[in-house]
Amino acid sequence: MDFRLSEEQEMIQDAARDFAQSQIVPVAAAFDESGEFPLDNIRQMGELGLMGVEVPQAYGGAGMDGIAYVLAMIEIAKADAAHAVIMSVNNSLFCYGILKNGTETQKQKYVRDIASGKKIGAYLLTEPQSGSDAAAMNTQAKLSKDGSHFVINGKKSWITSGPVAEYGVLFAVTDPDKGARGISAFIVEADRPGYIRGKKEPKLGIRASATCEIEFDNYHCPAENMLGEPGMGFISAMSVLDAGRIGIASQALGIALAAYEASIEYVKERKAFGQPIGAFQMTQTKIADMKTRIEASRLLIYQAAIAKQSQAEGNGGRFTTEAAMAKLFASETAMFVTHQAVQIHGGMGYSREMPIERYFRDAKITEIYEGTSEIQRMVISRSVTGIR
Ligand code: CAA
Repeated sequence: MDFRLSEEQEMIQDAARDFAQSQIVPVAAAFDESGEFPLDNIRQMGELGLMGVEVPQAYGGAGMDGIAYVLAMIEIAKADAAHAVIMSVNNSLFCYGILKNGTETQKQKYVRDIASGKKIGAYLLTEPQSGSDAAAMNTQAKLSKDGSHFVINGKKSWITSGPVAEYGVLFAVTDPDKGARGISAFIVEADRPGYIRGKKEPKLGIRASATCEIEFDNYHCPAENMLGEPGMGFISAMSVLDAGRIGIASQALGIALAAYEASIEYVKERKAFGQPIGAFQMTQTKIADMKTRIEASRLLIYQAAIAKQSQAEGNGGRFTTEAAMAKLFASETAMFVTHQAVQIHGGMGYSREMPIERYFRDAKITEIYEGTSEIQRMVISRSVTGIR
């Protein structure tokens, strides 16, 4: 197996790294503190092609492959996990799903602005009573008598970018008797009547990524905005999340790398008992375990990204298990590495003077959103045993 990157992949990795280090790193702590949405940076990332890495240029994206996407995500997340999740939702949850299941008109109308960062996208799946059990949603979409539009009522929660997103992909029940097969997907616009944003959620980490509830109160969605076939919404939500989970795994790896690299510097500089703390075996154990888990995460992410790319090129099937393994392992690695990094830095790791405590807070969400670690384990186990 050859892990050498192509010229194009190196190009986007370098562009993402340069932007992340020069434009995001200097402001990440201030955005974390204020919780302000980093709109200017997101627009500039759009201009660099980072909001639609795999989106064909004809629809406003960079037209690159699935490996280029994870390389760019890792670099952005290394600088700031909040920027990274906004990027991830635009790329994998919004654009990827519409490119896969949308009509030509939908692609032209909705993908271009999101892939170029001119607008922000959201993914409206979770509800107050249905998180892990995503099929248990209550939001209803009823076709109007004249068949021109759907009337949507219900509440979606924990919507990443919800307070600012102009467009969203929404999942709602169209046939309550059919369970998961009675759910359909729709493209919704935030500036229509009946689309009501709730208050911004106060969060432990990724504080600059805005999150809120969205309520639909007799919202009228044009019939032509149904995304994919009626009743196929849940299946499409799951297959889009397969791609999304690779993005979150990359976000987790970026966070882990930032904490790891800071720790390497610190164990060389910081002295105790007359020697650098890196000379102590207990520190060496931490560093070795951090590095090993990071590299294992990277390989799982590359494996999943390659499987996804093969599917995109028509040479492979589902990559559900690869994506779940990458997300599970990388998110738990992010938690492990940031925990060790705080410990290595001691008081400085706990202080807001340094970014280590931010990495620690940001890492936690990667074990929760786009399917908890428990759900990833369930998906992996079901796929290898066939037992449900
Ligand atoms: N690809 C294609 N089809 C899939 C699929 C996949 N990955 N996973 C399931 N399906 C299909 C099944 O084959 C089945 O199809 P049939 O009707 O043909 O049999 C159908 O979907 C129903 O599947 P299951 O019976 O497996 O469904 P389930 O109810 O048992 O639950 C689950 C599946 C894996 C638990 C799912 O509910 C799940 O992933 N839950 C986690 C939810 C989640 O990840 N939410 C993320 C919210 S978005 C977010 O977090 C974004 C953000 O903030 C950044």
